[in-house]
Amino acid sequence: MAEDPSVPPARGITRRALFQGAGAAAAARALLGATPAGAEEGPAATPWRTQGPGAVDVALRVNGAERTLRVEPRVTLLEALRLDLDLTGAKPVCDRSQCGACTVWLDGRTVHACSVLAVEAEGREVTTVEGLGQPGRLHPVQRAFVEEDALQCGFCTPGLVMSVAWAVAQHGPGLSEAQVRRACAGNLCRCGTYPHVLKAALKAAGQGG
Ligand code: FES
Ligand code: FES
Repeated sequence: MAEDPSVPPARGITRRALFQGAGAAAAARALLGATPAGAEEGPAATPWRTQGPGAVDVALRVNGAERTLRVEPRVTLLEALRLDLDLTGAKPVCDRSQCGACTVWLDGRTVHACSVLAVEAEGREVTTVEGLGQPGRLHPVQRAFVEEDALQCGFCTPGLVMSVAWAVAQHGPGLSEAQVRRACAGNLCRCGTYPHVLKAALKAAGQGG
């Protein structure tokens, strides 16, 4: 389906842009040992590397642990997390950066993992919902979601938790409703738990409850 150019893309990237722009750039950055025609030689030249189309090694830091995967350069971060590392908290729902169910942190910022290539995350810090907390030692945002009944389906919830946790980490006890709404702008909940999500966010920030 054609994308409406008047609608701003969620988090500044569309699926099409990924593969036409960012994805192509990442693929280009992944060119190993090849200096493009006309490019400068020497220490100032772009460090081109060629990888693929076969599987390549990708080193990630996921939830504080060093992980090395062997994946094709076309594999998204979401696919790598779920299929190679068995971290299934981030969910594949729209697979086109529209719903936020796949939200993780990349170097401390929220991204849609379905629209980031695994090779783009090379050497970077990835945090998934599993890295926030686990049963028995929940993150304050996870606990607040439970206490405020801020979930129903379980598909959108991990992404919402990651966005809310980012907002709480950024703004602390002074977190405002507007900041929560902005942080969750890329997360869709089709059943409308937003008021509960808002209450959970403010509670996790130390307001009320
Ligand atoms: S699955 Fe990534 S934004 Fe929807
Ligand atoms: S709780 Fe997932 S769609 Fe509303």
